[in-house]
Amino acid sequence: MALYADYGQEEIANLTKVIESGWLCDRAGGFMDQFRQDFAVALGAKHAICGATAMVLMHAIPGAIGAGAGDEIICDPVVQFHGIACLHNNVVPVWADVRPDNFLMDPDSVEAKITARTKAIWVTHLWGFAAEVDRLREIADRHGIYLLEDCAHAILAEYKGRKLGTWGHIGSFSFNMWKQLATGEGGMAITDDDKLADEINKRVIFGESPEVLSSNYRMTELQAAVGVAQLKKVPGYLDVFREGKRVLDEAIAGCAWLDSRLQLPESTVAPYYWSCLFHGERAGIDYGVFKAALRQAGAGFGTGFLQVPAYMYAILRNPNAYGNKGCPYNCHLYDGVVDWKAGLCPVAEDVIPRLVHTNNMLSVEKVRQEAEALRQAIRLAESGDVEPLTYSDVENKVLEYIKENGASEPLELIQHFDGQGWQHFDEHGMWMVMENLRDRFPYKLSHAGPRKFAYHDLS
Ligand SMILES: Cc1ncc(COP(=O)(O)O)c(C=O)c1O
Repeated sequence: MALYADYGQEEIANLTKVIESGWLCDRAGGFMDQFRQDFAVALGAKHAICGATAMVLMHAIPGAIGAGAGDEIICDPVVQFHGIACLHNNVVPVWADVRPDNFLMDPDSVEAKITARTKAIWVTHLWGFAAEVDRLREIADRHGIYLLEDCAHAILAEYKGRKLGTWGHIGSFSFNMWKQLATGEGGMAITDDDKLADEINKRVIFGESPEVLSSNYRMTELQAAVGVAQLKKVPGYLDVFREGKRVLDEAIAGCAWLDSRLQLPESTVAPYYWSCLFHGERAGIDYGVFKAALRQAGAGFGTGFLQVPAYMYAILRNPNAYGNKGCPYNCHLYDGVVDWKAGLCPVAEDVIPRLVHTNNMLSVEKVRQEAEALRQAIRLAESGDVEPLTYSDVENKVLEYIKENGASEPLELIQHFDGQGWQHFDEHGMWMVMENLRDRFPYKLSHAGPRKFAYHDLS
């Protein structure tokens, strides 16, 4: 179910038209044409190109700018999508650090990571906040490279009077069910450059005999029919989410140990997840106690998000592209060195575990309940009157395994769980379990190297 979207008569009428036409894919004068046109106008871009998802458009983008084996693209490490899209193109993702106050790409760090191999900077406007795209574009232009914007969370958000997605050479958007504009699945790429539009199109549509290595990444008329109707409603949704953001910001306004996220001056936010940063050390408040307080107050907040920067994840550290030959890192065309030690992006490593976040795409009434629960959790944590967290069955199994086998990493635990026929976890899920066992009295885990956790019994 969409998180918020209001689907009604217009969507039904559009879908009916498509069905009655008997033609469910792209056709001249159909909804896809209209969606492309409306989207380009709404964003202020020359071209808009529909795709089946944002991820497939992101797969097409490095090829469209001519990036491939031996090349690098600079990414931010708070999400993984662009890094994975690089691997799909045999391109090495290089990780720039983020700013501590908004967790978005830090242009100074980007500048320091540019090499002769750099083809592009790929910035994520995480959770609908604008990164410093003016500075990033200036850096890109000065070095003769591309600026790409992942705007999956940032539809209609602005910086200095321009929509996000139009500062870069290409911007991409997602319409999956967890986005502000949801068509089931779907994505859009925008650009002002005729040649880039053509290059993306070639990679999205296979046709009968493709001109370039491509696939079929097309959207259907059904998605476009919903998209045309939903696009008109997005400004109204954003008004609701902005009010929700204000309510949540207010809930932590008096708290000395939860820092609100910086919104750059001259920017507007397209709220997606709301977040703040935990700094309990300033007030002697233990993170584990705050997490227990959140749970006790019934607040639906998550902590840590990815838990660790994207470059800590196995899929990005051990590329299995191109038949497990070690490409792109050990490719003979690549003359850089991939050496992603802990400390690679110190700000991201510090900030990510501190993230306290919740869904901002809710009715104001629901957000008010969340804000009240957050206030209650703050009061509980400050009073110290918090019931300790108990260990779940899964957590006990993890603790037991590490106690018996020594320092272990998430993938070893996943393998163990699978072997026992227990619950299956993806890597992110297991990171969440293990990170949540850090600082948990009396048994806790601590980091033992970049990916491993060690066991401690403090009882
Ligand atoms: C930042 C970001 N980029 C890209 C994507 C990929 O979007 P899609 O699911 O449309 O492929 C997502 C999906 O959640 C995302 O959050």
